[in-house]
Amino acid sequence: ASVLLLNGPNLNLLGTREPGVYGSETLEDLVTNLSKVMEELGGSLEHIQSNHEGVLIDAIHRAKGVHDGILINPGAFTHYSYAIRDAFASVALPTIEVHISNVHAREEFRHHSVIAPVVVGQVVGLGLDGYEWALRALVRKIEKK
Ligand code: DQA
Repeated sequence: ASVLLLNGPNLNLLGTREPGVYGSETLEDLVTNLSKVMEELGGSLEHIQSNHEGVLIDAIHRAKGVHDGILINPGAFTHYSYAIRDAFASVALPTIEVHISNVHAREEFRHHSVIAPVVVGQVVGLGLDGYEWALRALVRKIEKK
């Protein structure tokens, strides 16, 4: 399986950004670990982090016909980007949404995801481990098809 990993705004600052909420591991640590997991599963992983909505949308469009599924942490775009939601609806690739923190235990504006209705499911509040569980679940889903 070929998976596209997308990380949205501010996730480039993992490790230094609000470590009490997001932990002390960096984005590089995360991608290194997930690449190993993908290798172990016999697949490949491409990673893109962007602070720009349009860059994420272009990456979702390009994934069609190239990747089998998408893993995304849309950051704050989760809560208001109808454009990212429409991009997922347009390409119809199996997608899992990940949040490092338990968004439901935080501010009210983080409780709602406009992306959730167009993805397979969400992994929320498990820290960086959540990406690994989500990746394993996504690969299983792709291989069952
Ligand atoms: C986040 C939660 C969002 O509310 C926040 O804006 C982020 C990170 C998470 O991974 O917990 O940037 O998606």
